Amino acid sequence: MKLRSLFWCTLICALALVASQCQNGSVSTTSASQIPHLQKQGTATQLIVDGKPFLALAAELSNNGATSVEYMKPAWPKIVEAKINTVLAGVSWSQIEPQEGKFDFSVPDGIIRDARSHNLRLVLLWFGTWKNGQSSYPPGWVKRDSERFPRVQIVGGTWPVFGGGAGQPRVPFTGSIELLSPLGEATRDADAHAFAALMRHIKEVDGHQHTVIMIQVENEVGMQGDTRDRSPAANQAYAGPVPKELMDYLQQHKDTLIPELRKVWEAAGFKTAGTWEEVFGKGRPTEEIFMAWYFSRYVGRVIEAGKAEYPIPMYTNCPQSGFGTAPAPVRGGQSGGAMPDAMDIWRAGAPRLDLLGVDVYGFDFVVMCARFTQSGNPLFIPETVFGLEAAARVLYAFGRHDAIGFSTMNGGIDRRPAPDNDLIASYDLITQLEPLIVQHQGKGTMSAVLLEPKDPPQKIQLGNYTLQVAFMRPRAARRGDPPPEPPTLAGAMFISTGPDEYFVAGFGVSVGFSPNTPGPPLAGLDTVEAGTFVNGRWVPGRRLAGDDTSQGDCLELRWPSGGVVSANRARLPGESIQRFTLYRYQ
Ligand code: DGJ
Repeated sequence: MKLRSLFWCTLICALALVASQCQNGSVSTTSASQIPHLQKQGTATQLIVDGKPFLALAAELSNNGATSVEYMKPAWPKIVEAKINTVLAGVSWSQIEPQEGKFDFSVPDGIIRDARSHNLRLVLLWFGTWKNGQSSYPPGWVKRDSERFPRVQIVGGTWPVFGGGAGQPRVPFTGSIELLSPLGEATRDADAHAFAALMRHIKEVDGHQHTVIMIQVENEVGMQGDTRDRSPAANQAYAGPVPKELMDYLQQHKDTLIPELRKVWEAAGFKTAGTWEEVFGKGRPTEEIFMAWYFSRYVGRVIEAGKAEYPIPMYTNCPQSGFGTAPAPVRGGQSGGAMPDAMDIWRAGAPRLDLLGVDVYGFDFVVMCARFTQSGNPLFIPETVFGLEAAARVLYAFGRHDAIGFSTMNGGIDRRPAPDNDLIASYDLITQLEPLIVQHQGKGTMSAVLLEPKDPPQKIQLGNYTLQVAFMRPRAARRGDPPPEPPTLAGAMFISTGPDEYFVAGFGVSVGFSPNTPGPPLAGLDTVEAGTFVNGRWVPGRRLAGDDTSQGDCLELRWPSGGVVSANRARLPGESIQRFTLYRYQ
């Protein structure tokens, strides 16, 4: 009898466990004990932390902010106050391995400990061999030995020989530069060894708490001053055959290659073997493809060494969109970086690389998001601006592109003199909406717009209606006053939560609507509520109609309070989100 009841008890407990893991009809396959990882949901990729999808509302520190635990102590409370949940913090190779084979992780340990005590997550940036197209973070024992650790050489290029930075002109230069060569195998192995030691240590100190959720491997890899490395080893490789593993990858993925790369290969006749110029033709793209292969192969080996120790998501970041198109002041673009045009090369060279992150400063944000989300690349923004522009971009990144994270930088959050009220407002919106956002990611039921004053209204088909979204110029505070200058950017995100129901969050836009399914041809506003989400539950505030909906013609999303040019219609507390339902009529 006892055995029988034991059997039934065990069976009932097991069934209860399975039932508890079933969500929306599917058994959740992740548990809190699993390490941070990426997981598909429809067309989206989600970052899973402690068993749940996580949206990184982040800020990057100044390059060396995290090289001192003491320096960071006053910064943590400011970061928490800014509604940030994740900090991007650099780890310096020279700091953790001052002597070859001798590691000191005391500073990263302190940063992880203090981030954790402030309930913050970390993305650690491995400042190893390369940073911004140079090599300022390798330890002295690497920098001093250019025999064992060879440098890139340029010919007839330009280089700030008397020290870079503002006002120091680049001068015509031929010779070795402050950039370790990606053909340097000893350098690669030394970097990989140090990175593996770091990842092994992170697993030891954080493998069960998951403060560290992702790693950026190197920083803005690429080269400046010339289009390719012209050292003897590089010249020999450039005159040699394109490696078979790259040719195999290109042939296997021929029909899905990024168009810009495919065009270069097609123009040279889609050859499947030959030297770099035989396969890709003469000129700049070929030299960039060559550099992208060697940079990606090198970074790929570093990633493999790190993943062998602790396989949390790893990405690398890039500031440019295509061959030879980096924003100023990088003249003529950084060659060989992890840019969309070279995405296939980077995927071939670094197969364990989880995604290409994009730093958006000198480019159009809408264009950069579109280019970096090609071919299923998840969107992660390690760096961008602050203020109203960032506030609008946040909504667009998560609403339109299912971003896994968004981080502002602009010199570093630790150096910001005052809170960024606009960005805080947007991070607060995303925090409120997070349960809804992660539920709708990848399902085609969420979208967003980013509008400048000059932009025409934008139409987005979402659910059973087409929404027409227009930039809403701020009105004068008092009748007769001149209207204030319009801010530079407005943004809003929309979630279709039912046949006639939507949630919208954002600022500076008006929203019209029309049906896009068979039936009565006109649509009108049934109910409009302004409110907030509290712990995932909708809490309606005022009921809106009349003046607040342009007498029923459209929704109006006002400018956030504080920080923006036109605070004349500051958003009242508890009105950051609107829920609206539509009806149709003849
Ligand atoms: C982009 C780099 O990735 C950052 O580390 C920093 O150097 C900024 N540029 C400039 O502040």
